[in-house]
Amino acid sequence: MLNANVPPSVPPLNQKNKALAALVAGIVLLVAMAGIRNIQPLLDSSLGALNVDPNMVPLVTGDEPIQELFVRAGCPVCHQIPGIVGAKGQVGPPLWLGKTGEARLADPEYRGQAQTVREYIVESVVSPGTYVVPGFPADTMPVWYGRKLSAGALDKIASYLEQAVEESAPRSP
Ligand code: HEC
Repeated sequence: MLNANVPPSVPPLNQKNKALAALVAGIVLLVAMAGIRNIQPLLDSSLGALNVDPNMVPLVTGDEPIQELFVRAGCPVCHQIPGIVGAKGQVGPPLWLGKTGEARLADPEYRGQAQTVREYIVESVVSPGTYVVPGFPADTMPVWYGRKLSAGALDKIASYLEQAVEESAPRSP
């Protein structure tokens, strides 16, 4: 490769350098093209991880109104949630489990314990690694919700999300 005794700017090496530079540029381009679909979620997930710090999330008791409950828990940072103002996150799947829940349970890749959509939601929140929704990044959803959400809060989340369906009209901002 590069001859250590000759500074790279010396003319005889120039051609070689150009070829090398072209090769490197080609590789970079190939990698970028192959990875381009995955770059946005990666960016989003690092943003999300920055924004949701367990120390900043207070214990959610379940006595809060549903809007406040979701906001306090930080779910809107990563998820779109029908009916929750400001919940437009794109890191994770939209939380309309009334629409998608049955398909999760029916997925041959699903290896969790849940028998119902409601159980699936609780499992997804307290043990996100059990099943990773295809097309979304693993190890991104926080793993500490079991410690931050009371049983009542989890119950409220599950009842809400199991009924949530895709909104037909876009929400006003
Ligand atoms: C830092 C980003 C992030 C936060 C915050 C977050 N999630 Fe998630 N969540 C994800 C990602 C990414 C996935 C998809 C990968 C997976 O299944 O683990 C996911 C998956 C889920 C699923 C499964 C969805 C499906 O369609 O099967 C549920 C349910 C869920 N999250 C609920 C919540 C709730 C409720 C909160 C707040 C208490 C929350 N998430 C907070 C990133 C996040």
